[in-house]
Amino acid sequence: MKKTINYNDIYSRLENLDIFDSVKVLDIIDSSNTYAKNIAREYDRAIVIAKAQTSGRGRVGRVWLSDFDGCLMFSVLLKPNLSLDMLSFLSQIAAKSLHQSLAHHIKKDATLTIKWPNDIMLGGKKISGILTESVIDNVNRPVVVVGIGLNLFGRLPDELAEIASTIEAETSYRIDTVDFVERFVLDFFREVSLYEQLKAVDTRLIDYINSVFYLADKEVEVDGVRAICRGIDFRGNILIGDSVISSGIVEENRQ
Ligand code: BTN
Repeated sequence: MKKTINYNDIYSRLENLDIFDSVKVLDIIDSSNTYAKNIAREYDRAIVIAKAQTSGRGRVGRVWLSDFDGCLMFSVLLKPNLSLDMLSFLSQIAAKSLHQSLAHHIKKDATLTIKWPNDIMLGGKKISGILTESVIDNVNRPVVVVGIGLNLFGRLPDELAEIASTIEAETSYRIDTVDFVERFVLDFFREVSLYEQLKAVDTRLIDYINSVFYLADKEVEVDGVRAICRGIDFRGNILIGDSVISSGIVEENRQ
């Protein structure tokens, strides 16, 4: 039997939440992030779910592989009441919500971690990535799109086998996707609302991320400098040796 994602049930559950002005499930688009940015004039809060993408995008200009059935791909559009310098932490809020909602479904013996800034790792392999993009609307309000790709099942290309995987391949079961998406959305908007109120990062979030931090105590390399990773600080910056780094590509030293 061909395994599929139950998009009708995801749609109904999200419609019932009363969070979004618009819930869209689309058969094939270029990228749900691009689509979400294009509808930002019409809606303040929307979620765009793509069954397939022709130009799925990843961080730092990478391509996100979007042509296998078992990848859940969606983008959340929001207009948070935050200053521009506070927007980058939204990505890490999304990673925390993603981790927490997945942890509810994944048995405790499987190691589910967050790799800074916002990859979700299972058994040491990437199962999910987040691409957060922001623009300013015509009244100077931030428009943010948080795009998520989650590998549920299916076959990834052989060249990715070392670094990426699916939930099914790592655990031999499939999670309840409808419940997962609902949990993610509720937790994400709860955390965003708290962040808007506090106008600061809640230390509880930093503690959570550090407690499931994939790179902790590992030797990593950034900009040619190798050192031991000490987790993240109170702003979400990564701590590598004596360096504090706010953005960039951190390579794990696998030797
Ligand atoms: C990364 O790990 O580099 C981030 C990957 C983000 C992929 C998702 S799939 C849904 C949304 N639409 C896109 O084009 N990208 C994000």
